[in-house]
Amino acid sequence: MSIIVGQAARGENFWDRTNELEDIWNAIESGSHILISAPRRVGKTSIMYKVQDEPKANYIPIYIDTESADSENDFWQKLFHALMEEDFINKFESLAKIFWTKLKSIKFKKISSSGVEFADGEILDYKEAFKRLIKDLDNDIKIIIMIDEFAQTIENIIKYEDTKNALSLLKTHRELRQDVKISSKITFMYAGSIGLESVVSKMNATKYINDLNNIKISPLELNEAKEFTKKLCLSNHINISNDDIVYMLDQIEWLIPFYIQLITQEVKRLFRIEKEITKESIDKAIQNSLDYRSYFENWHSKLREAFDNNSYLFAKEILNIISETLTMKSSEIINIATKFKIDEDVAKEVIHSLVYDGYINNSTFAHKTQLFLSVST
Ligand SMILES: Nc1ncnc2c1ncn2[C@@H]1O[C@H](COP(=O)(O)OP(=O)(O)OP(=O)(O)O)[C@@H](O)[C@H]1O
Ligand SMILES: [Mg+2]
Repeated sequence: MSIIVGQAARGENFWDRTNELEDIWNAIESGSHILISAPRRVGKTSIMYKVQDEPKANYIPIYIDTESADSENDFWQKLFHALMEEDFINKFESLAKIFWTKLKSIKFKKISSSGVEFADGEILDYKEAFKRLIKDLDNDIKIIIMIDEFAQTIENIIKYEDTKNALSLLKTHRELRQDVKISSKITFMYAGSIGLESVVSKMNATKYINDLNNIKISPLELNEAKEFTKKLCLSNHINISNDDIVYMLDQIEWLIPFYIQLITQEVKRLFRIEKEITKESIDKAIQNSLDYRSYFENWHSKLREAFDNNSYLFAKEILNIISETLTMKSSEIINIATKFKIDEDVAKEVIHSLVYDGYINNSTFAHKTQLFLSVST
């Protein structure tokens, strides 16, 4: 098991998330469509890759990151091509193979940026072409379409196209999910590093996603985190006592695999130099990992992208204060909102997104992270 920092963890580097995967497969098998919700960096993308890499029989998972889609048409075009170009992992299973062969046999006269012309002469935009592909497929196999960064796509469309297109995309998805014929062939799974619920509620469009089965991804339980850290250290030839692992996890507090990986990476470096790990080296490792600006700067720029100017300044000030005082009264929050001329509802929305996205939580470690965030501004 290698130390992975930043990229999604895959294959032998993936620490099993048994409960989450079971929840996801149960939901798929019961016919729900899924929203994976978790703060940033908790491991959503890694879990989706796991579904893709090890699907159950008669399911074909397709993972697609739509972050670069800036318009409604871009989105559907990406989805259409993902379906057409996917080299299905389990295509050697007979049903999947039949499905795959059938999909590959669909012929087009022309494919352009605005849509496609099927061999029978029907010209459709990408949204309709996607629907036709799905409707034409047999029932005995189910496709799982995992859309990562969906909320980001919605924000892009608002920014670069129009709010009405973003609403139309949400509405079409809802219609597809409600369509019995389509729903029997597809499971949609949405995830992203910004919260879909907060993006959608800002648009007063919660009704378009309230049918989704919301599956939460939690941090690791202490025992699991211990096992994970032990395995990570063992595979990386780091001699560390169980006591020191417990001490390290105690310091990290919010036990998401990302923090464990980040600190273990630094512990590994110190072990190479100092040849032994002590509590002091763990303290040093935690301090040093806060110096890896790039991981946090990315969070920072996401924050800037997600909010308008005043809300961004408001969010930044809140984080700065919390990073020093650790808590804040709601009256203080309202005062700061007034200072930046944003009303209470917007302020609540911003705070809600900060909590959702993991910028604010109960962990001291996260607060240190916030401190870093404010210093790096
Ligand atoms: N199952 C896992 N096993 C090992 N490491 C993991 C696992 N899940 C997450 N990680 C660690 O967390 C980091 C982030 O994982 P991932 O990209 O899957 O999270 P995410 O929730 O999709 O993040 P974002 O919110 O930025 O999209 C990885 O680089 C890795 O360090
Ligand atoms: Mg991700």
